[in-house]
Amino acid sequence: MSSESKPYIIVLGNEKGGTGKSTVTMHVITALLWKGYQVGSIDVDARQGTLSRYVENRHHRVKESNLSIPLPQHTAIYKSTLDNVTEAEQEEEANFTQALTQHQNCDFIVIDTPGSDTHLSRLAHSYADTLITPLNDSFIDLDMLVRVDPDSLNILRPSTYSEMVWDQKKHRAMRDGGKIDWIVLRNRLASIHSRNREEMERVLSALAKRIGFRLMPGFGERVIFRELFLTGLTLLDMRETGTPMTLSHLAAKQELTALLEGLNLPKSLDRSQAA
Ligand SMILES: Nc1ncnc2c1ncn2[C@@H]1O[C@H](COP(=O)(O)OP(=O)(O)OP(=O)(O)O)[C@@H](O)[C@H]1O
Ligand SMILES: [Mg+2]
Repeated sequence: MSSESKPYIIVLGNEKGGTGKSTVTMHVITALLWKGYQVGSIDVDARQGTLSRYVENRHHRVKESNLSIPLPQHTAIYKSTLDNVTEAEQEEEANFTQALTQHQNCDFIVIDTPGSDTHLSRLAHSYADTLITPLNDSFIDLDMLVRVDPDSLNILRPSTYSEMVWDQKKHRAMRDGGKIDWIVLRNRLASIHSRNREEMERVLSALAKRIGFRLMPGFGERVIFRELFLTGLTLLDMRETGTPMTLSHLAAKQELTALLEGLNLPKSLDRSQAA
């Protein structure tokens, strides 16, 4: 990339825990790496450290087996231990902006955030060019985005997380006039059709227009999305390891390709012809 252009920032966020933020982060990072981009990765959930461990595992794998697979430049940011809230927030902000500066040479920076409301997470959201919110296909998870009437399933009002995203959109606009493209990605979709799935579809489609996100079909419930964590690999690295692909792997790859295409990356970064 040219020295003047800034890295494009993708943030994975949802205040609900266990919705697939870290899983989707690892897959987006490897997909971008295999397209030949320079990718910076930042873990602002360093206490849990799922993404940091994944990157560590990937480095270990490269060292141990001489695999030729691309690696991101990684930074983990810990919550400040200062007692004074203002000072703690200032320290976190300084560490966060320093991490962004460290990755200035990258085409992309992909940031994993915790499943809770923290200052670092809010800060990361406010820097997003694209925010991806994975959501399990369950009304428990939907509750973090919106309150619905239990009988009619009509939308009553946006919930905590949607309000937080709205605030960060305003922060972003005030800082540099930029916009956050918010994508909600359904995750762990069951292969069988169900009434729950249909109702989720209906409520999410109505909600997308009302609170301003784009809805993506997302990832199915698939073993391949979780089984390679310890090896630091994803399904996109299987060509290098010589592992044969099953139909489920191909379907997973298609889901990931659809996500990457749906990101509508800026034209200057478009490498749709690459692997
Ligand atoms: N599409 C999928 N298919 C199968 N398993 C999945 C899928 N997505 C996520 N998982 C599994 O669901 C669990 C939660 O995923 P993950 O850790 O990525 O969520 P998270 O949102 O990062 O959680 P936290 O909020 O705790 O950081 C993990 O065990 C992961 O392997
Ligand atoms: Mg996580």
